[in-house]
Amino acid sequence: MTSKTILITGGTDGIGKAIAEQLTQRGDKVIIIGRNPQKGYLAQQAIAEVTEASVSFIALDMSVMSEVKRFASEYLATHSKLDYLIHCAGVIMQQPVITSEGFEMVLATQYLSRYL
Ligand SMILES: NC(=O)c1ccc[n+]([C@@H]2O[C@H](COP(=O)([O-])OP(=O)(O)OC[C@H]3O[C@@H](n4cnc5c(N)ncnc54)[C@H](OP(=O)(O)O)[C@@H]3O)[C@@H](O)[C@H]2O)c1
Repeated sequence: MTSKTILITGGTDGIGKAIAEQLTQRGDKVIIIGRNPQKGYLAQQAIAEVTEASVSFIALDMSVMSEVKRFASEYLATHSKLDYLIHCAGVIMQQPVITSEGFEMVLATQYLSRYL
């Protein structure tokens, strides 16, 4: 099977991390995204130790639309392909939180960023 290039938002924890582990075992090139760099690098190391496969981490806050746009532009400029985009980044807030751009955080993270 040909190796795929796969981007997983929220790939540093929970469901996204579990998917990343499975896909790297198939030999796919996996890029995981999360906000917390320390958590991201630990997840990257843990996945790479198990599978000895290609996994990289990018720190990105998907609730900030300007960051999502910047990342998308950079990705297009530096990568030749993207086979699959898997969205697992998500949060549950007890109270509404408004981002610096004026969007409610859950809406921004789970819906608006995915559209962008
Ligand atoms: N677990 C369930 O039973 C379940 C059921 C139904 C639906 N879901 C949905 O499935 C998704 C994943 O759930 P999960 O249980 O795997 O959650 P989780 O363990 O809390 O993991 C969430 C992931 O998303 C990342 N993330 C959160 N906000 C982000 C942001 N603004 N930008 C970039 N990355 C962000 C987190 O990393 P950082 O914190 O470092 O950013 C982490 O990697 C969520 O949308 C959740 O609502 C889960």
